[in-house]
Amino acid sequence: MSVYSLIRPLLFLIDPEAAHDLTLKLLTIAARWAVVGTTGPVFDCKPLRVMGLTFPNPVGLAAGLDKNGDYVDALEALGFGFVEVGTVTPRAQPGNPKPRLFRIPEAQAIINRMGFNNRGVDHLVERLKKRRSRGILGINIGKNFDTSIENAAGDYIACMRKVYAYASYITLNISSPNTKDLRNLQHPESLGRLLQRLKSEQTELCNRHGKYVPLAVKIAPDLSDAEAFAMAELLLANQIDAVIATNTTVSRDRIKGLRHAGEDGGLSGRPLFEQSTRIVACLSRALKTTIPIIASGGILTPEDALEKKAAGASLVQLYSGLVYKGPDLIAETVAAFRASG
Ligand code: FNR
Repeated sequence: MSVYSLIRPLLFLIDPEAAHDLTLKLLTIAARWAVVGTTGPVFDCKPLRVMGLTFPNPVGLAAGLDKNGDYVDALEALGFGFVEVGTVTPRAQPGNPKPRLFRIPEAQAIINRMGFNNRGVDHLVERLKKRRSRGILGINIGKNFDTSIENAAGDYIACMRKVYAYASYITLNISSPNTKDLRNLQHPESLGRLLQRLKSEQTELCNRHGKYVPLAVKIAPDLSDAEAFAMAELLLANQIDAVIATNTTVSRDRIKGLRHAGEDGGLSGRPLFEQSTRIVACLSRALKTTIPIIASGGILTPEDALEKKAAGASLVQLYSGLVYKGPDLIAETVAAFRASG
């Protein structure tokens, strides 16, 4: 029996956001006392080349768990092949009023409407300067809640400039349901304009820093097949380096009648799996391996991760699965990938 399966019932007795903060603090203590190794377990796995980077294993941490880069060392020590921090915005902001995080254990799901609560990009950068671990780090960026959609590009550019030197790759989050109108950036016209500006910023930053940092775009699961195909064309046209599919859903179809189903926000976990995998499959048909797909959405077992791989994903990311299954899911998923060849 794992340590997590022993403490999970206790964590589930307390408020979800308090449990989240407590877990991260416990993890930091565990890493400091080397209950988990300081460099992390090295799983027996063939490294993978994706976006021009070498990943020690294909199982990553999805954005949102460590918004401020406060826990990178401890999280890497769990054995992730890569860790994504953020979403970070140019200025600090408190996010939505609490409560804003809800567990739905019957469905192995979570609803959140955190609203990009974060301490701002300068805090994140200060934290990353002190980081000891050297694994692959994604930095997920967004816009402040009070920046208009017309000016959103300015916020992404401000974040890109500040995080560029510290990121292995940068994720453009245009798909959170909890920032008003953010997902409008996915409309083809807005997206085309945005990607063009951010791609040229990437070129300038590449020249200035003498290193190429890939750009990934994270998209919503609430897209039709046609919208996903249109999105793929724009990603190709703008030479985007990867796509993360997907963020949380606004759909409640699979949790009807359950407690908290009526809460606003993004739904993650098991009920997101099929919808999110459909988007991976659509993108894969459209992109034909030209742009790698990172799958995030409803991975609760190693078999779920293999389904994402079969649908066309090169890498996977976990979030809700960690809450319900604990960190053992990382090693189990790496082992399943290895066994699948
Ligand atoms: C998230 N997610 C998220 N994504 C993102 O790009 N930026 C963010 O700040 C957050 N914040 C966040 C908070 C909470 C509490 C949750 C549960 C999720 C989405 C997350 O990265 C992931 O894409 C989805 O949760 C789907 O994966 P799972 O949870 O079904 O494995």
